Amino acid sequence: MDWGMRNRLSKLIQRDGRALFIPIDHGYFQGPTRKLEKPGETIKPLLPYADAIMLTRGILRNCIDPTVDKPIILRVSGGTSMARRAELDQEGQITSVREAIRLNACAVSMSIFVGAPGEHQTLLNFARLVDECEDYGIPAMAVTAVGAELEKRDARYLALASRIAAELGARVVKTYYCEEGFEKVVDGCPVPIVIAGGPKVDSELEVFNWVYDAIQKGAIGVNLGRNIWQHDYPVAMAKAIRAIIHENATPKEAQQVFEETKRATTSG
Ligand code: 5RP
Repeated sequence: MDWGMRNRLSKLIQRDGRALFIPIDHGYFQGPTRKLEKPGETIKPLLPYADAIMLTRGILRNCIDPTVDKPIILRVSGGTSMARRAELDQEGQITSVREAIRLNACAVSMSIFVGAPGEHQTLLNFARLVDECEDYGIPAMAVTAVGAELEKRDARYLALASRIAAELGARVVKTYYCEEGFEKVVDGCPVPIVIAGGPKVDSELEVFNWVYDAIQKGAIGVNLGRNIWQHDYPVAMAKAIRAIIHENATPKEAQQVFEETKRATTSG
């Protein structure tokens, strides 16, 4: 592997082999998502706990201070919106690799929609992106997307989509967690896997359980958005999840980190 690729990967995946990415890219098809109306304000208090942030070029240029020292994962796919839900899988490439280099991105990310009408188009888009990224030593992260079909997220589907992403040349694969058979997803995918959270759930312990179990089964970390920044105590969530990823905390220990940080926030 070339020096540039290794250097960028080492900024994303920490020395312990783990990673905590916080995405704030949701507006690229959802518009002003709840608690992400002002993405720069949402992410600012979370930056100390993130190993990298994922976002589009528009939000990067307009909402993030260029002196930021966090690696940027630039989302380069899109072109669809919630206003046409049935066509969410029809994404194309919306940002060039040249622009990613101009923005000093550490990696780029693109969605693939396995099993949807847009499967062929998005897989070819991703393969072409990988070709170009490899020329410049930029890791391409595949996002195994399900659009509005959240029920698709079982081990069989996630293993299929993740393996295909790896076969096409992804350096990192972002997929979802599933309670049953997640180890099959990891075992069948020869590149590092991070998990997303999907829509916010009611209990923080549920999130800690997912993250802990995913790590035990071989994931290297998370690319977790709404279950951090839509929470009433986002910093407490980020610190607790960081403890699971980088300090091997159990869900119970993470809950303690959460409660302590929450208390400090409310009493301070
Ligand atoms: C959708 C994405 C997000 O980055 C990904 O889904 C992670 O976010 P969340 O944890 O909120 O699902 O690719 O734009």
